[in-house]
Amino acid sequence: MRHLMNPLDFTTTELEQLFDLAADIERNPAKYAHACAGKILATCFYEPSTRTRLSFESAMTRLGGSVIGFSDAASSSASKGESVSDTIRVISCYADICAMRHPKEGAPMVASEKSTIPVINAGDGGHQHPTQTLTDLLTIRSLKGEIKNFTIGLCGDLKFGRTVHSLINALVRYEGIRFIFISPEELRIPDYITDMLKEMDIPYEEVMNLENVMPNLDFLYMTRVQKERFFNEEDYIRLKDFYILDKAKMALAKDNMLVLHPLPRVNEISVEVDEDPRAAYFKQAQYGVYVRMALILTLLNINI
Ligand code: CP
Repeated sequence: MRHLMNPLDFTTTELEQLFDLAADIERNPAKYAHACAGKILATCFYEPSTRTRLSFESAMTRLGGSVIGFSDAASSSASKGESVSDTIRVISCYADICAMRHPKEGAPMVASEKSTIPVINAGDGGHQHPTQTLTDLLTIRSLKGEIKNFTIGLCGDLKFGRTVHSLINALVRYEGIRFIFISPEELRIPDYITDMLKEMDIPYEEVMNLENVMPNLDFLYMTRVQKERFFNEEDYIRLKDFYILDKAKMALAKDNMLVLHPLPRVNEISVEVDEDPRAAYFKQAQYGVYVRMALILTLLNINI
Protein backbone atom coordinates (compact mmCIF):
# COMPACT_ATOMS: atom_id res chain seq x y z
CA MET A 1 0.00 0.00 0.00
CA ARG A 2 1.22 3.45 -0.92
CA HIS A 3 0.42 6.95 0.37
CA LEU A 4 1.18 10.37 -1.14
CA MET A 5 2.63 12.81 1.39
CA ASN A 6 5.15 14.68 -0.74
CA PRO A 7 5.62 15.04 -4.52
CA LEU A 8 9.02 13.34 -4.06
CA ASP A 9 7.24 10.13 -3.01
CA PHE A 10 6.99 9.44 -6.76
CA THR A 11 10.10 9.17 -8.94
CA THR A 12 10.17 11.29 -12.09
CA THR A 13 9.57 8.11 -14.11
CA GLU A 14 6.50 7.31 -12.00
CA LEU A 15 5.31 10.89 -12.46
CA GLU A 16 5.65 10.53 -16.26
CA GLN A 17 3.50 7.39 -16.06
CA LEU A 18 0.96 9.26 -13.94
CA PHE A 19 0.87 12.17 -16.41
CA ASP A 20 0.54 9.77 -19.37
CA LEU A 21 -2.43 8.21 -17.60
CA ALA A 22 -3.94 11.66 -16.88
CA ALA A 23 -3.51 12.59 -20.55
CA ASP A 24 -5.26 9.36 -21.61
CA ILE A 25 -8.11 10.11 -19.18
CA GLU A 26 -8.43 13.59 -20.74
CA ARG A 27 -8.63 12.06 -24.26
CA ASN A 28 -10.84 9.06 -23.39
CA PRO A 29 -12.96 9.83 -20.30
CA ALA A 30 -15.56 7.15 -21.16
CA LYS A 31 -12.90 4.42 -20.90
CA TYR A 32 -12.48 5.21 -17.18
CA ALA A 33 -16.12 5.94 -16.28
CA HIS A 34 -16.58 2.72 -14.26
CA ALA A 35 -12.97 2.09 -13.23
CA CYS A 36 -13.67 2.68 -9.52
CA ALA A 37 -17.16 1.16 -9.32
CA GLY A 38 -17.67 -0.09 -5.75
CA LYS A 39 -14.76 1.96 -4.36
CA ILE A 40 -15.17 4.77 -1.82
CA LEU A 41 -13.08 7.90 -1.40
CA ALA A 42 -13.16 9.69 1.98
CA THR A 43 -12.40 13.42 1.90
CA CYS A 44 -11.39 14.51 5.42
CA PHE A 45 -10.93 18.27 5.29
CA TYR A 46 -10.06 20.01 8.57
CA GLU A 47 -9.41 23.26 6.68
CA PRO A 48 -11.49 25.07 4.00
CA SER A 49 -11.12 24.12 0.34
CA THR A 50 -12.97 24.48 -2.92
CA ARG A 51 -10.68 23.06 -5.62
CA THR A 52 -8.85 20.28 -3.85
CA ARG A 53 -11.86 18.72 -2.14
CA LEU A 54 -14.27 19.13 -5.03
CA SER A 55 -11.75 18.05 -7.67
CA PHE A 56 -11.09 14.88 -5.64
CA GLU A 57 -14.84 14.30 -5.37
CA SER A 58 -15.31 15.03 -9.07
CA ALA A 59 -12.39 12.69 -9.89
CA MET A 60 -13.83 9.77 -7.90
CA THR A 61 -17.34 10.38 -9.28
CA ARG A 62 -16.01 10.47 -12.86
CA LEU A 63 -14.31 7.13 -12.15
CA GLY A 64 -17.65 5.62 -11.13
CA GLY A 65 -16.83 5.48 -7.40
CA SER A 66 -18.51 7.07 -4.39
CA VAL A 67 -17.46 9.75 -1.93
CA ILE A 68 -17.99 10.26 1.81
CA GLY A 69 -16.36 12.79 4.11
CA PHE A 70 -16.48 16.09 5.93
CA SER A 71 -15.52 19.57 4.80
CA ASP A 72 -15.04 21.17 8.19
CA ALA A 73 -13.40 19.97 11.42
CA ALA A 74 -16.32 21.47 13.35
CA SER A 75 -18.73 19.00 11.76
CA SER A 76 -16.48 16.01 12.59
CA SER A 77 -15.65 14.41 15.94
CA ALA A 78 -12.35 16.34 15.91
CA SER A 79 -14.51 19.02 17.56
CA LYS A 80 -15.00 16.57 20.48
CA GLY A 81 -11.26 15.98 20.74
CA GLU A 82 -10.79 12.89 18.57
CA SER A 83 -7.22 12.43 17.33
CA VAL A 84 -6.32 12.18 13.63
CA SER A 85 -4.92 8.69 14.35
CA ASP A 86 -8.23 7.45 15.73
CA THR A 87 -10.20 9.12 12.95
CA ILE A 88 -8.18 7.44 10.19
CA ARG A 89 -8.50 4.01 11.85
CA VAL A 90 -12.25 4.44 11.66
CA ILE A 91 -12.22 5.93 8.13
CA SER A 92 -10.17 2.88 7.07
CA CYS A 93 -13.26 0.76 7.90
CA TYR A 94 -15.51 2.93 5.73
CA ALA A 95 -13.49 3.84 2.65
CA ASP A 96 -10.83 2.50 0.24
CA ILE A 97 -8.74 5.69 -0.04
CA CYS A 98 -8.61 9.00 1.85
CA ALA A 99 -7.66 12.57 0.91
CA MET A 100 -6.87 14.64 4.01
CA ARG A 101 -6.29 18.36 4.45
CA HIS A 102 -5.20 19.64 7.85
CA PRO A 103 -3.93 22.98 9.21
CA LYS A 104 -1.19 21.15 11.18
CA GLU A 105 1.98 20.26 9.31
CA GLY A 106 2.52 16.51 9.33
CA ALA A 107 -1.06 15.54 10.32
CA PRO A 108 -1.69 13.50 7.11
CA MET A 109 1.66 11.74 7.73
CA VAL A 110 0.55 10.81 11.26
CA ALA A 111 -2.71 9.51 9.76
CA SER A 112 -0.86 7.44 7.14
CA GLU A 113 1.07 5.64 9.89
CA LYS A 114 -2.17 4.28 11.39
CA SER A 115 -4.12 3.84 8.17
CA THR A 116 -4.92 0.60 6.38
CA ILE A 117 -5.96 2.51 3.22
CA PRO A 118 -3.90 4.90 1.03
CA VAL A 119 -3.81 8.44 2.45
CA ILE A 120 -3.23 11.46 0.21
CA ASN A 121 -1.94 14.69 1.72
CA ALA A 122 -4.35 17.32 0.37
CA GLY A 123 -2.39 20.16 2.02
CA ASP A 124 -0.86 20.34 5.52
CA GLY A 125 -0.36 23.79 7.02
CA GLY A 126 2.43 25.73 5.31
CA HIS A 127 4.28 22.49 4.51
CA GLN A 128 3.28 20.57 1.36
CA HIS A 129 0.47 20.35 -1.17
CA PRO A 130 1.54 17.45 -3.36
CA THR A 131 -1.61 17.07 -5.47
CA GLN A 132 -1.44 20.78 -6.35
CA THR A 133 2.13 20.13 -7.48
CA LEU A 134 1.00 17.18 -9.61
CA THR A 135 -1.60 19.55 -11.09
CA ASP A 136 1.05 22.21 -11.76
CA LEU A 137 3.47 19.75 -13.38
CA LEU A 138 0.74 18.24 -15.57
CA THR A 139 -0.32 21.75 -16.64
CA ILE A 140 3.27 22.66 -17.56
CA ARG A 141 3.76 19.38 -19.45
CA SER A 142 0.42 19.62 -21.26
CA LEU A 143 0.77 23.26 -22.30
CA LYS A 144 4.53 23.31 -23.07
CA GLY A 145 5.08 19.66 -24.08
CA GLU A 146 7.84 18.98 -21.55
CA ILE A 147 9.06 19.89 -18.07
CA LYS A 148 12.55 21.27 -18.64
CA ASN A 149 14.60 24.29 -19.64
CA PHE A 150 12.54 27.20 -18.40
CA THR A 151 12.61 30.15 -16.03
CA ILE A 152 9.79 30.26 -13.52
CA GLY A 153 8.98 33.29 -11.39
CA LEU A 154 7.19 32.52 -8.12
CA CYS A 155 5.49 35.61 -6.78
CA GLY A 156 3.73 36.60 -3.57
CA ASP A 157 3.69 34.66 -0.32
CA LEU A 158 6.76 32.47 -0.65
CA LYS A 159 7.16 32.08 3.11
CA PHE A 160 3.89 30.35 4.00
CA GLY A 161 2.87 29.15 0.53
CA ARG A 162 2.83 25.35 0.64
CA THR A 163 2.06 25.15 -3.09
CA VAL A 164 5.29 27.02 -3.79
CA HIS A 165 7.36 24.84 -1.44
CA SER A 166 5.99 21.64 -2.97
CA LEU A 167 6.47 22.85 -6.56
CA ILE A 168 10.10 23.89 -6.02
CA ASN A 169 10.87 20.53 -4.39
CA ALA A 170 9.44 18.78 -7.43
CA LEU A 171 10.99 21.02 -10.12
CA VAL A 172 14.57 20.67 -8.87
CA ARG A 173 14.53 17.12 -10.26
CA TYR A 174 14.08 18.41 -13.84
CA GLU A 175 16.77 19.69 -16.20
CA GLY A 176 17.48 23.37 -16.83
CA ILE A 177 15.00 24.99 -14.40
CA ARG A 178 15.84 28.50 -13.19
CA PHE A 179 13.91 30.14 -10.34
CA ILE A 180 13.14 33.80 -9.69
CA PHE A 181 11.58 34.39 -6.27
CA ILE A 182 9.54 37.60 -6.18
CA SER A 183 8.31 38.63 -2.73
CA PRO A 184 8.35 41.36 -0.10
CA GLU A 185 11.07 40.95 2.51
CA GLU A 186 8.59 39.59 5.10
CA LEU A 187 7.37 36.79 2.79
CA ARG A 188 10.72 35.60 1.42
CA ILE A 189 11.30 32.00 0.49
CA PRO A 190 12.54 30.00 3.53
CA ASP A 191 16.29 29.52 3.92
CA TYR A 192 16.02 25.73 3.82
CA ILE A 193 14.87 26.02 0.20
CA THR A 194 17.59 28.44 -0.93
CA ASP A 195 20.15 26.28 0.93
CA MET A 196 18.93 23.26 -1.05
CA LEU A 197 19.18 25.17 -4.35
CA LYS A 198 22.74 26.30 -3.52
CA GLU A 199 23.72 22.77 -2.63
CA MET A 200 22.27 21.45 -5.89
CA ASP A 201 23.84 24.30 -7.91
CA ILE A 202 20.44 25.34 -9.28
CA PRO A 203 20.26 28.98 -10.41
CA TYR A 204 17.91 31.31 -8.54
CA GLU A 205 17.53 34.96 -7.69
CA GLU A 206 15.45 36.78 -5.10
CA VAL A 207 13.87 40.10 -6.08
CA MET A 208 11.13 42.39 -4.87
CA ASN A 209 10.16 44.05 -8.17
CA LEU A 210 7.88 42.06 -10.48
CA GLU A 211 7.98 44.39 -13.51
CA ASN A 212 11.76 44.15 -13.88
CA VAL A 213 11.76 40.37 -14.24
CA MET A 214 8.59 39.93 -16.35
CA PRO A 215 10.51 39.80 -19.69
CA ASN A 216 12.71 36.94 -18.42
CA LEU A 217 9.93 34.54 -17.43
CA ASP A 218 8.55 31.46 -19.20
CA PHE A 219 6.08 30.87 -16.34
CA LEU A 220 4.79 33.22 -13.69
CA TYR A 221 3.35 31.37 -10.67
CA MET A 222 1.27 33.89 -8.74
CA THR A 223 0.17 33.17 -5.18
CA ARG A 224 -2.25 34.69 -2.71
CA VAL A 225 -1.06 36.35 0.48
CA GLN A 226 -2.75 33.97 2.91
CA LYS A 227 -4.66 35.78 5.62
CA GLU A 228 -5.09 32.53 7.59
CA ARG A 229 -1.30 32.13 8.07
CA PHE A 230 -0.73 35.60 9.60
CA PHE A 231 -0.63 36.15 13.36
CA ASN A 232 -1.09 39.87 12.96
CA GLU A 233 -3.92 41.52 10.93
CA GLU A 234 -1.88 44.72 10.41
CA ASP A 235 0.90 42.80 8.61
CA TYR A 236 -1.66 41.07 6.40
CA ILE A 237 -3.31 44.36 5.42
CA ARG A 238 0.07 45.93 4.63
CA LEU A 239 1.19 43.04 2.41
CA LYS A 240 -1.99 41.68 0.81
CA ASP A 241 -1.93 43.90 -2.29
CA PHE A 242 1.85 44.09 -2.66
CA TYR A 243 1.62 42.50 -6.13
CA ILE A 244 -1.24 42.92 -8.57
CA LEU A 245 -0.74 41.40 -12.00
CA ASP A 246 -2.57 43.52 -14.56
CA LYS A 247 -2.57 44.18 -18.32
CA ALA A 248 0.27 46.69 -18.07
CA LYS A 249 2.56 44.13 -16.42
CA MET A 250 1.47 41.40 -18.86
CA ALA A 251 2.57 43.71 -21.71
CA LEU A 252 6.16 43.32 -20.44
CA ALA A 253 6.09 39.51 -20.70
CA LYS A 254 6.99 37.14 -23.55
CA ASP A 255 4.18 36.24 -25.96
CA ASN A 256 4.36 32.60 -24.87
CA MET A 257 4.80 33.17 -21.13
CA LEU A 258 2.10 31.39 -19.10
CA VAL A 259 0.52 32.58 -15.86
CA LEU A 260 -0.27 29.89 -13.31
CA HIS A 261 -2.00 30.25 -9.93
CA PRO A 262 -3.13 27.47 -7.59
CA LEU A 263 -6.20 29.62 -6.76
CA PRO A 264 -8.13 30.95 -4.92
CA ARG A 265 -7.07 34.43 -5.99
CA VAL A 266 -8.03 37.57 -4.16
CA ASN A 267 -6.56 40.73 -5.75
CA GLU A 268 -3.17 39.49 -6.96
CA ILE A 269 -4.36 38.89 -10.54
CA SER A 270 -6.67 41.53 -11.94
CA VAL A 271 -9.73 39.99 -13.66
CA GLU A 272 -8.73 41.87 -16.84
CA VAL A 273 -5.87 39.33 -17.21
CA ASP A 274 -8.32 36.40 -17.42
CA GLU A 275 -9.01 37.09 -21.12
CA ASP A 276 -5.29 37.04 -21.98
CA PRO A 277 -4.46 33.75 -23.78
CA ARG A 278 -1.43 33.43 -21.50
CA ALA A 279 -3.66 33.16 -18.40
CA ALA A 280 -3.61 29.39 -17.73
CA TYR A 281 -4.96 29.21 -14.17
CA PHE A 282 -8.47 27.98 -14.99
CA LYS A 283 -7.07 25.33 -17.36
CA GLN A 284 -4.77 24.38 -14.46
CA ALA A 285 -7.84 23.71 -12.27
CA GLN A 286 -9.20 21.38 -14.99
CA TYR A 287 -5.91 19.45 -15.10
CA GLY A 288 -6.33 18.99 -11.34
CA VAL A 289 -9.26 16.65 -11.97
CA TYR A 290 -7.40 14.51 -14.54
CA VAL A 291 -4.31 14.16 -12.37
CA ARG A 292 -6.37 13.24 -9.27
CA MET A 293 -8.25 10.63 -11.33
CA ALA A 294 -4.88 9.20 -12.38
CA LEU A 295 -3.62 9.32 -8.78
CA ILE A 296 -6.67 7.49 -7.36
CA LEU A 297 -6.29 4.73 -9.98
CA THR A 298 -2.56 4.46 -9.30
CA LEU A 299 -2.85 4.28 -5.50
CA LEU A 300 -5.71 1.75 -5.75
CA ASN A 301 -3.65 -0.32 -8.23
CA ILE A 302 -6.43 -0.26 -10.80
CA ASN A 303 -5.26 -0.83 -14.39
CA ILE A 304 -7.63 -0.16 -17.27
N1 CP B 1 -5.47 25.25 -4.86
C1 CP B 1 -6.12 24.88 -3.73
O1 CP B 1 -5.62 24.14 -2.88
O2 CP B 1 -7.37 25.43 -3.61
P1 CP B 1 -8.39 25.10 -2.43
O3 CP B 1 -7.80 25.67 -1.17
O4 CP B 1 -9.68 25.75 -2.83
O5 CP B 1 -8.49 23.60 -2.33
